[in-house]
Amino acid sequence: MNKTFNPTTLPFQPFELEHYQALYEHKVEMNLADSSVKCVTMRDLLSEADLERLMAAPLMYPMVNGSLEVRSRIAALYSRATPEDVLVTVGGSEATLLVCQTLLEPGDEVVVIAPGYRQVYGLAHNAGCTEEDWRPNLGELERLVNPKTKLIAVVNPNNPTGTIFTSQEMNRITELAAKVGAYLHADEVYRGSEFHKEETPSFWGDYDRVVCTNSLSKAYGLSGLRIGWIVAKQPLVEAFERRHEYAVISASSSSMIMAEVALQPAKRQFLLERQRQLAREGWAVLQRWLHEHQGLASVAQSEATALGFVRYYSPYTSLEVAEMIRKEANVLVAPGQFMGADNHLRITLGYGEAKTSQALARIATVLQKLQNLVKA
Ligand SMILES: Cc1ncc(COP(=O)(O)O)c(C=O)c1O
Repeated sequence: MNKTFNPTTLPFQPFELEHYQALYEHKVEMNLADSSVKCVTMRDLLSEADLERLMAAPLMYPMVNGSLEVRSRIAALYSRATPEDVLVTVGGSEATLLVCQTLLEPGDEVVVIAPGYRQVYGLAHNAGCTEEDWRPNLGELERLVNPKTKLIAVVNPNNPTGTIFTSQEMNRITELAAKVGAYLHADEVYRGSEFHKEETPSFWGDYDRVVCTNSLSKAYGLSGLRIGWIVAKQPLVEAFERRHEYAVISASSSSMIMAEVALQPAKRQFLLERQRQLAREGWAVLQRWLHEHQGLASVAQSEATALGFVRYYSPYTSLEVAEMIRKEANVLVAPGQFMGADNHLRITLGYGEAKTSQALARIATVLQKLQNLVKA
């Protein structure tokens, strides 16, 4: 064995956003750095009969790639997909990890949407790839994509901005990937969280290098189940599954049963509508707050998610501002610099009106103080 090997000193890009949350989310009084909504309880989710089934089920490994019932329910959410196109994973996180582990090799070029959830960005970096940020402007994407591009990664609807691609934009992105034979990874965990629009269409379609990932964490409010999935064509699904066997063997059997319940069409609609309602309420609170505190902050129009990506007006970095808010107001928000856009804070609005207003009032006090410091 090579005695000089030290894994803690290898060049490694940590997942800054997740690490920041992990450090403080259970220590602050109000955590608004998370990106789901007030999550569903087992009582909200399960009927008496579901509960009985759960209690009677042996705590054994479920099917390694996900139970047929769950894969069938997932396949039904994609046009012409079959249960064989689906792999059930431990959250969208494992899904994206498997995609990157399988597809990326050192030297590959990866184009990643920004601002965005930086999982692909960090994984690509750690795999020895060259990663390029792409602001959602198709001209910029056209300029960046070339025959060396291995993967184009999008998050749609987007975290943190809540924007949604039009169908023309989706077609163009897919065409650009197909032109150079690149894989297209669409992280669609916020599909179903639109405030008013129809459910966002998936990138899943005719291009055989499209890989869609999703989970029950965000639009369904079930992050604790740790259930996600990948939808892809063979032989990709097989390749992902081989790595899934190494990583986790399978998702949890209790979660698999609850996922089956959550994905029943009527239950699914109930969960999505619940999330949308929380998001709409939170957005109304944010709009009122911005109106009352003009000059302190602003927000661009969002179409989905319960995330306010708020631009603040002071010269401090987003980490400095978030740290001040954490220390002085006991509220955790996510610094925009961890999502590729400084001078912004990502504030989760889906915890009910009372908590959101209380937290925003505290945030305003800190932002005001920072502005006064600059003036002094
Ligand atoms: C865009 C996006 N994708 C994937 C994930 C991973 O979440 P999970 O593993 O709970 O599905 C997150 C979590 O914040 C996210 O925001």
